[in-house]
Amino acid sequence: MNLIVNEAFKVALAARSNAHAPYSKFQVGAALKIKGHDQIFPGCNVENASFGATVCAERNAILSAVANTGKIEVEFVVVVCDTKPVTVPCALCLQVLSEFAKADVPIHLADTESIKKTVTFGELLPMPFNTLDC
Ligand code: THU
Repeated sequence: MNLIVNEAFKVALAARSNAHAPYSKFQVGAALKIKGHDQIFPGCNVENASFGATVCAERNAILSAVANTGKIEVEFVVVVCDTKPVTVPCALCLQVLSEFAKADVPIHLADTESIKKTVTFGELLPMPFNTLDC
Protein backbone atom coordinates (compact mmCIF):
# COMPACT_ATOMS: atom_id res chain seq x y z
CA MET A 1 0.00 0.00 0.00
CA ASN A 2 1.22 3.50 -0.93
CA LEU A 3 2.94 5.20 2.07
CA ILE A 4 0.75 8.28 2.13
CA VAL A 5 -2.43 6.19 1.88
CA ASN A 6 -1.21 4.08 4.77
CA GLU A 7 -0.47 7.24 6.75
CA ALA A 8 -4.01 8.48 6.02
CA PHE A 9 -5.42 5.15 7.18
CA LYS A 10 -3.69 5.67 10.54
CA VAL A 11 -5.04 9.23 10.75
CA ALA A 12 -8.59 7.99 10.04
CA LEU A 13 -8.25 5.17 12.57
CA ALA A 14 -7.10 7.63 15.26
CA ALA A 15 -9.94 10.04 14.38
CA ARG A 16 -12.43 7.18 14.69
CA SER A 17 -11.43 6.72 18.31
CA ASN A 18 -12.55 10.33 18.91
CA ALA A 19 -16.02 9.76 17.44
CA HIS A 20 -18.86 11.12 19.53
CA ALA A 21 -21.40 8.36 18.94
CA PRO A 22 -23.32 7.78 22.19
CA TYR A 23 -26.61 7.16 20.33
CA SER A 24 -25.71 4.81 17.49
CA LYS A 25 -22.46 3.49 19.02
CA PHE A 26 -21.32 3.38 15.39
CA GLN A 27 -17.89 5.02 15.21
CA VAL A 28 -16.55 6.27 11.91
CA GLY A 29 -13.18 7.81 11.07
CA ALA A 30 -12.22 9.56 7.86
CA ALA A 31 -9.09 11.08 6.39
CA LEU A 32 -8.82 13.36 3.41
CA LYS A 33 -5.75 14.02 1.27
CA ILE A 34 -6.02 17.12 -0.86
CA LYS A 35 -3.85 18.07 -3.79
CA GLY A 36 -0.96 20.45 -3.09
CA HIS A 37 -0.93 19.84 0.67
CA ASP A 38 1.00 17.24 2.68
CA GLN A 39 -1.32 17.51 5.65
CA ILE A 40 -3.99 14.83 6.06
CA PHE A 41 -7.33 16.11 7.34
CA PRO A 42 -9.11 13.85 9.86
CA GLY A 43 -12.81 13.61 10.62
CA CYS A 44 -15.01 11.59 12.93
CA ASN A 45 -18.77 11.41 13.31
CA VAL A 46 -20.17 13.78 15.91
CA GLU A 47 -23.69 12.83 16.97
CA ASN A 48 -26.27 15.03 18.60
CA ALA A 49 -29.26 14.37 20.86
CA SER A 50 -31.46 15.87 18.14
CA PHE A 51 -30.15 13.18 15.75
CA GLY A 52 -30.65 15.53 12.77
CA ALA A 53 -27.70 17.69 13.83
CA THR A 54 -25.32 14.71 13.64
CA VAL A 55 -22.43 15.23 11.23
CA CYS A 56 -20.68 12.29 9.57
CA ALA A 57 -16.94 11.67 9.70
CA GLU A 58 -16.44 12.31 5.98
CA ARG A 59 -18.19 15.66 6.02
CA ASN A 60 -16.26 16.78 9.08
CA ALA A 61 -12.99 15.98 7.27
CA ILE A 62 -14.10 17.83 4.12
CA LEU A 63 -15.28 20.91 6.02
CA SER A 64 -12.07 21.02 8.05
CA ALA A 65 -9.94 20.84 4.89
CA VAL A 66 -11.90 23.72 3.35
CA ALA A 67 -11.71 25.79 6.54
CA ASN A 68 -7.95 25.22 6.80
CA THR A 69 -6.85 25.64 3.21
CA GLY A 70 -9.59 27.31 1.16
CA LYS A 71 -10.21 25.89 -2.30
CA ILE A 72 -9.58 22.15 -2.19
CA GLU A 73 -9.21 19.39 -4.74
CA VAL A 74 -9.53 15.97 -3.16
CA GLU A 75 -6.78 13.43 -3.98
CA PHE A 76 -8.20 10.49 -2.02
CA VAL A 77 -10.37 9.62 0.96
CA VAL A 78 -10.02 6.91 3.60
CA VAL A 79 -13.03 5.77 5.64
CA VAL A 80 -12.66 3.47 8.65
CA CYS A 81 -15.53 1.59 10.28
CA ASP A 82 -15.64 -1.64 12.21
CA THR A 83 -17.89 -3.58 9.84
CA LYS A 84 -17.56 -6.60 7.62
CA PRO A 85 -17.95 -5.92 4.77
CA VAL A 86 -16.61 -2.35 4.92
CA THR A 87 -19.00 0.61 4.91
CA VAL A 88 -19.32 3.21 2.14
CA PRO A 89 -19.92 6.96 2.73
CA CYS A 90 -23.59 7.98 2.89
CA ALA A 91 -25.22 9.84 0.00
CA LEU A 92 -25.19 13.15 1.86
CA CYS A 93 -21.40 12.94 2.30
CA LEU A 94 -20.96 11.91 -1.33
CA GLN A 95 -22.99 14.92 -2.46
CA VAL A 96 -20.81 17.25 -0.34
CA LEU A 97 -17.71 15.51 -1.69
CA SER A 98 -18.93 16.11 -5.25
CA GLU A 99 -18.06 19.81 -4.93
CA PHE A 100 -14.39 18.91 -4.50
CA ALA A 101 -13.76 15.46 -6.03
CA LYS A 102 -13.47 14.25 -9.62
CA ALA A 103 -14.98 10.91 -10.66
CA ASP A 104 -11.62 9.08 -10.56
CA VAL A 105 -10.79 10.02 -6.93
CA PRO A 106 -10.08 6.83 -4.93
CA ILE A 107 -12.20 6.15 -1.86
CA HIS A 108 -10.37 3.64 0.34
CA LEU A 109 -12.71 1.63 2.54
CA ALA A 110 -11.17 0.16 5.67
CA ASP A 111 -11.96 -1.77 8.79
CA THR A 112 -9.87 -1.18 11.91
CA GLU A 113 -7.18 -3.52 10.60
CA SER A 114 -6.48 -2.21 7.09
CA ILE A 115 -7.92 -0.94 3.83
CA LYS A 116 -10.09 -3.72 2.43
CA LYS A 117 -11.54 -2.21 -0.75
CA THR A 118 -10.94 0.77 -3.01
CA VAL A 119 -13.63 2.26 -5.25
CA THR A 120 -13.78 5.51 -7.18
CA PHE A 121 -15.92 8.47 -6.24
CA GLY A 122 -17.65 8.16 -9.63
CA GLU A 123 -18.66 4.58 -8.88
CA LEU A 124 -20.30 5.64 -5.63
CA LEU A 125 -22.00 8.75 -7.00
CA PRO A 126 -22.12 8.67 -10.80
CA MET A 127 -24.58 11.57 -11.18
CA PRO A 128 -24.14 14.23 -8.45
CA PHE A 129 -26.58 17.11 -8.20
CA ASN A 130 -24.83 20.07 -9.87
CA THR A 131 -26.12 23.47 -10.92
CA LEU A 132 -22.84 24.97 -12.15
CA ASP A 133 -22.66 22.99 -15.40
CA CYS A 134 -26.32 23.46 -16.34
N1 THU B 1 -21.96 8.01 9.63
C1 THU B 1 -20.77 8.54 9.18
O1 THU B 1 -19.99 9.09 9.96
N2 THU B 1 -20.50 8.44 7.86
C2 THU B 1 -21.33 7.90 6.92
O2 THU B 1 -21.04 7.95 5.73
C3 THU B 1 -22.55 7.24 7.35
C4 THU B 1 -22.92 7.37 8.78
C5 THU B 1 -22.26 8.11 11.05
C6 THU B 1 -23.44 9.00 11.38
C7 THU B 1 -23.90 8.44 12.68
O3 THU B 1 -23.17 9.03 13.74
C8 THU B 1 -23.52 6.96 12.61
O4 THU B 1 -22.60 6.85 11.55
C9 THU B 1 -24.69 6.04 12.37
O5 THU B 1 -25.41 6.40 11.27
